Amino acid sequence: MPTAQLGQVPREAHRRCPCGASRLDAAGGWSSEHDSGLSRSVVAAAGLDGIVGRASYDAAMTSETGLTSVEICAGAGGQALGLEQAGFDHALAVEIDPTACDTLRANRPTWKVHEGDVRGVEGKAYDGIDLLAGGVPCPPFSVAGKQLGADDERDLFPEALRLVREARPRAVMLENVKGLTYPRFANYRDQIRGALHEMGYGTHWQLIYSSEYGVPQLRPRFILVGLRPDDMARFEWPAPVGTPPTVGKTLHDLVAANGWTGADNWRDRRANTVAPTIVGGSKKHGGADLGPSRAKASWALMGVDGRGVADPGDIPGESTAPDALFRLTLRMGARVQGFPDSWEFTGRKTAAWRTVGNAFPPPVAFAVGSAIRRALTGESGNEATTAAPVVRNTSAIGR
Ligand SMILES: C[S@@+](CC[C@H](N)C(=O)[O-])C[C@H]1O[C@@H](n2cnc3c(N)ncnc32)[C@H](O)[C@@H]1O
Repeated sequence: MPTAQLGQVPREAHRRCPCGASRLDAAGGWSSEHDSGLSRSVVAAAGLDGIVGRASYDAAMTSETGLTSVEICAGAGGQALGLEQAGFDHALAVEIDPTACDTLRANRPTWKVHEGDVRGVEGKAYDGIDLLAGGVPCPPFSVAGKQLGADDERDLFPEALRLVREARPRAVMLENVKGLTYPRFANYRDQIRGALHEMGYGTHWQLIYSSEYGVPQLRPRFILVGLRPDDMARFEWPAPVGTPPTVGKTLHDLVAANGWTGADNWRDRRANTVAPTIVGGSKKHGGADLGPSRAKASWALMGVDGRGVADPGDIPGESTAPDALFRLTLRMGARVQGFPDSWEFTGRKTAAWRTVGNAFPPPVAFAVGSAIRRALTGESGNEATTAAPVVRNTSAIGR
């Protein structure tokens, strides 16, 4: 049964619901929607009991948890890395972009990477996997696009649902952009949830700001978690970890590496906030840059020229003026996305930047993945406890 229509519930009632944090989105969309209320009797009456969660998948498991995952649209591995850190062993990573696949293979030679269209992947081979995860393409829902949703040929939610039907994972995690929270997609969200409910999953959808999980960037992401009712009863969204480091603190050593005397001032006075949301750009629209004009303007206030991306050695030096604008390198962008420096990116600058800019920050994937792991294993705790009040940079731009 699809969830209740949001319009039937007074808006204020959604600000905080009994199951966890929920926010009203500034654009009028709902930041959190949930329906974990698939009762056992409903499931049983529908003949669904036992359909999900069969553990027939027998991949070699190397993590301590023994939990396995299939990830679609894996990109350069932001989500994959965070899920690995949360205890999920990737049985398969699916990605169509050759540069992103090279990056996955370079960093994790043991992962099975399927380089190709997810439409050609047969889910039955992964029957009983613990987690099916993915960051399906955002352009159908992004404000930067035409917001065609299901009418956009790039929409891969139907493929994700097909794989859930075929692989019957215990848990589902799909992330997308804030645009999907907007009222125009209410019916589409209902359809997605309805399909999962019919397959025996409870669902919970939440808007999460990456900046609340240690990432120096707002980067709001709308995350859908699907779990069978018993597991959903144990699921809690991870608590924010506190105020994130500023861009200045995150990048200072890289920016100062060529002896720029303005580096300390840049860190303390110009880049003393979190970044606007980084974007990867599309293949169609060419070059690597830091996004739409509003984002570029925010970067300029931080002393960063957002019109392009620098080559590796092209950073400020001893003779650079203290107030000069400079461009981010790929490594700087990767740090702003929460990647560790140990994660390599292959390919030429524009193609590699696209994979960095499209990523789901590993720390956020870790936090949500850990919450899913706890729901599956029955571990207690909420790992990501609040260390300090969260400060939002409201001038930064979300996508
Ligand atoms: C938002 S990005 C995912 C980012 C990734 N989750 C990460 O954390 O790095 C979407 C990805 O879907 C991939 N993609 C788009 N269409 C696809 C298809 N038909 N089959 C497989 N992958 C596809 C894109 O190449 C892109 O890397």
